[in-house]
Amino acid sequence: MATQATAPDQAFTYRRSPTAMEAFDAWLKEHGQDLPRHTEKWDVSRSDIYVEDKWQPIFAAMRAEAPINKVTESPYGAYWNVSTVKTIQHVESLPELYSSSWQYGGITIGDPPPDIDPAVLAERQLPMFIAMDRPEHTGQRRTVAPAFTPGEIAFMEAEVRERTAATLDTLPFGEQFDWVDKVSIELTTGMLAILFGFPWKDRRLLTYWSDWAGDVELGLARELIDVRHEILLEMGHYFQRLWVERSGAEPSRDLISMMLHSDAMNHMSPQEFMGNLVLLIVGGNDTTRNTMSGIVHALDQFPDQRALFEADPSVIPNGVQECIRYVTPLAHMRRTATADADLFGHQISKGDKLILWYLSANRDETVFDNPDKLILNRENARRHVAFGYGIHRCVGARLAELQLKILLEEMHKRRMRVHVTGKVERVRANFVHGFRKLETTIERF
Ligand code: HEM
Repeated sequence: MATQATAPDQAFTYRRSPTAMEAFDAWLKEHGQDLPRHTEKWDVSRSDIYVEDKWQPIFAAMRAEAPINKVTESPYGAYWNVSTVKTIQHVESLPELYSSSWQYGGITIGDPPPDIDPAVLAERQLPMFIAMDRPEHTGQRRTVAPAFTPGEIAFMEAEVRERTAATLDTLPFGEQFDWVDKVSIELTTGMLAILFGFPWKDRRLLTYWSDWAGDVELGLARELIDVRHEILLEMGHYFQRLWVERSGAEPSRDLISMMLHSDAMNHMSPQEFMGNLVLLIVGGNDTTRNTMSGIVHALDQFPDQRALFEADPSVIPNGVQECIRYVTPLAHMRRTATADADLFGHQISKGDKLILWYLSANRDETVFDNPDKLILNRENARRHVAFGYGIHRCVGARLAELQLKILLEEMHKRRMRVHVTGKVERVRANFVHGFRKLETTIERF
């Protein structure tokens, strides 16, 4: 049973550097030239197109010429590109045929290193329900879903608003600062700390761990895979402490306590419990963080939309959906075919890897008029697929929407106009889509 954890050593020291990106940058400098090349026209796994923000015309051409196509060789092996709303929703509506299971390779384009011992791989595997199929997926999703009901979200609203207001009130007007660090990371880790009842002073560890856990490109660097494993063990150690504390206490409203005291917990191994915690941290971290950065960047790029936001805050709820569409903080999810199949005339073989490019589908011109433009009152903004579709659709969507809505409302109350005035650095990745740095200056409108 899952609740039989023993208390780990309290004096343990958790590392806080280097960040995953620093480690990968250093590794690339030394080994970049040894990586397999991207040689094929539609190989959109190359991260330069995301870090340099030049993916838009490539995907537009793909949607027009070959919305489903096969890349036969890439650093991630062969894979199918699936690039429109209709084709992605079709794949996601057949979860038995197109599996999310870690046993076939999971939910990102990266595969485990071919030279890894299967026993070591199985031992390192953190089972998460995002990378499981039915029926296991259903049972485990149910353990966390109660934390995201409308009632629970409403309960969190006051605290999220208070923290957001306090963070915005620390920002200097008229002075340049990094929005990613001072606002996006601060608010996202703060929200996760509230959700888990995580010790406030250590909340930046959540960002540190999440970055290591979620960096797909890191999988290209063999040595860093081992470092990642060590760091995830440290995270497990920390959560085990919280687990021991909470399992001996009265049930409370935080997610760890909720999971520990749920019926499904009796059927979950300690590894599964830990895996699902990691999933919630990674799921809630980069995504919301990058949307918070993407929103201010987009409002600065589209002054007419900023003027609309300033003149009429009633556009905020729909505007949040539009910003999520426009930013699309997770570029893709992956599925693996469990049998031969016909996909809109393409012959998919059992074992084939399909990459569902949400980033492209959210620019699908057959669904969204003028898709490269931010339009806060776009009528069908809600049709975006940034949260996925079907049985795995994001469980934290309501919480993310709440946070983003509150951020925009509190910015509006303070009459904050944010200008991008300095460095803009994007994430070098084909999975997480967002900003590493965004230097901004605020004035009052
Ligand atoms: C703008 C913010 C967010 C975006 C764009 C986003 C996006 C996604 C996507 C694309 C998926 C996979 C869907 C699929 O395979 O069909 C997903 C699943 C998930 N997300 Fe989010 N997410 C966001 C925020 C959050 C937050 C705040 C949390 C929790 C704190 C969270 C937790 C999860 C979990 C647990 C899953 C797995 C669901 C399942 O497999 O059933 N996400 N999210």
